[in-house]
This record gives sequence, C-alpha cells and structure tokens, in this order.
Amino acid sequence: MRFDASVRVYPVWASKPRCGRPIYTLCVSLSPQDGNGAEVRLREAVTLKTLRRMVSRGEKFACLAAYDATTARWLERGGVHVLLSGDSAAQVVLGHDRTIDAPIDFLVQITAAIKRGAPKTLVMADMPFMSYHASVESAMLNAGRFMQEGLADVVKLEADATFAPLIDRMTRAGIPVCAHVGFRPQTTAVLGGPTAQGRTKEAMETLVDDAVALEAAGAVLLLVEAVPAEVTRRIVEATSVPVIGIGAGTDCHGQILVVHDLLGLTDHPPRFAEAVETLGERIKAAGAEWAERVRTDRIGGSRYTMRDQSGGSSGDATGGASGGTSRANTGGADSPEESR
Ligand code: KIV
Repeated sequence: MRFDASVRVYPVWASKPRCGRPIYTLCVSLSPQDGNGAEVRLREAVTLKTLRRMVSRGEKFACLAAYDATTARWLERGGVHVLLSGDSAAQVVLGHDRTIDAPIDFLVQITAAIKRGAPKTLVMADMPFMSYHASVESAMLNAGRFMQEGLADVVKLEADATFAPLIDRMTRAGIPVCAHVGFRPQTTAVLGGPTAQGRTKEAMETLVDDAVALEAAGAVLLLVEAVPAEVTRRIVEATSVPVIGIGAGTDCHGQILVVHDLLGLTDHPPRFAEAVETLGERIKAAGAEWAERVRTDRIGGSRYTMRDQSGGSSGDATGGASGGTSRANTGGADSPEESR
C-alpha cells in the first residue's frame, strides 16, 4: 500500500499575538492509496460483534466466497464484510465437478491466504467433506487447524440438528461455528443432484427446528442455502444470530455469493447468482491482446529488458545478477518489479 502525503501549514494565533504575527504549525496527513493511486478507506476489523451490531441497526452485511489473497485484498477495499474460503474452490479453482473434492490442506492454505490479503475482514473457513464426519476427535482437530494454520475467525459446517453435539463441543473449545442449513452441497450425491430444500410445510418446519437446535448448541452464525423466502423468514424470526442467505430470498441479514459468479467468470452459474461484471469476457479479450502482442513482437518496450551491470541491456529476461523474477523482490533500479 502507498501513502499520499499532504502537507498544510496553518497559522495559529497565540492568545495575545505579539507584533500581530501568527505562529505557524505544520500538519502532515497521510492517506493510504491502492496500486492505482485511489484512496483506500481504512476500516475497523469486522468481527462477530460488528455483524451483530449491523443486524441490530438493520444494516445488511456483504459476504463472498473467495479463494486467494489478491482477490480478498480488493474485496476488502470494496467494503465486503465477510469472506468465506468456500469448498466451492474444488469447482472454481481446481476444476472438479463437486465441492466434495476440496482437499483440506488446500482449504487451510487458502483460508490463511484470504486472511493475509484481507486482515480486517471476518474470514470464515468452510470445513470440507469428511473433515468433520468421521469422528468428533478428527472434527475438533481439523477445526483447530482452520483456526490456527488457516487464521480463520469462524468455521462453517453443513449441518442439521444431528450436528448440534459437535457444534456444542467446538463452541466450548472456543471455535466459533457457522451452521449451513437448507441445501447442503456436500449431500448432493444423497439428494441425487442439487435440490432446493424446505419446499413442503413439513420440510420447512424441520429446517426451522434444525436452525433453532444449532443456535442453541452455540452456532454464532447461520447460513441458509436454496430455500423459499418463507423458510428464511421463519428462521430469522426463530433465531437470534446473524443469518446469511444464498438463493434464500432477501430476508436474511447478510448475503453471500461465489465471487466467480459475481464477476461473470462462471459458464453455468446458479439461477439465483446475478453477475455484476463480465470479467470472463474481459480476461478472454486480454488473453487475445497478449497473444497478438507476442505474435507481433510488441511487448513492453524498454521496460521489458533488464539492464546488465554495465547499464546496458543484458538480453537476459531474468534481469541478470541483481534482477530475478521473484514477486517478493522489493524493487530497486535493477529490479524487474515492485512488491505486490
Ligand atoms: O463453498 C461455497 O461457496 C459455499 C457457498 C455457501 C457460498 O459454501
């Protein structure tokens, strides 16, 4: 992050100005800027208390599933309150068809990456398939990994009321849990495909009972996926923790989407996901432009060639002895890039 320094000199009159002359005082103010020189608004870290306060004031909070530090950094700058290291990473990052293929080590790593990129955002870690089902002990240890190695603020489990004892145990150990109810993508194989939930009176009552039981067990947040708006309304009325929705109507306190769906990167997004960008098309155009520049030898001019130690061009793309291509390189006359 860069800082823009503005310097101002103010006259300060003493109570009895001598010779009518003011005393001058120098004020230097630093405003943080992003890589494009735009001012960055610094904010307080978002915590569970922040979300509760927003709920009590009737303010909605914004959540997104994201998967890397750079995207997280920009989303925090945009004012997103909660980032989820979703097991949807299996699909949008790793190219699998199902969320159950998300490896736990990978999710722990990207959770920490998101927190490093967005340190003032509440980061929620999605516990993947089989990381909390085999035994209470392995579930506890895996949740602990997300908290310690993954720097998570909250872990998320796909749950019905049968998970209440596990959530109770995690809560008593100091692990804040978000209980994900409604359509639970990790159960897709049992359902026979992605299926909206809570569509009969009986199914709605079961979901509301699940949500109440999970809050009673200690869940600090609820996430409701793919249910009719009436179910969400009932859950919001019956519980007192912040409720996040996805494809569940507008009655919840916060809303979440997969960032790839929001950015227009997904070929077949869910019906409820409305894109605000067409980044896929823009990446395609950028790729085509790059290919054309490479084909026609139009790449970057003198900036593209490192100097050798005599000050001339080395013709060595790595920049010779003092260059290198590391992204951690912090700059300098012979450095190929500034620190990200
Ligand atoms: O993994 C995921 O993307 C989710 C959604 C609820 C956003 O769990």
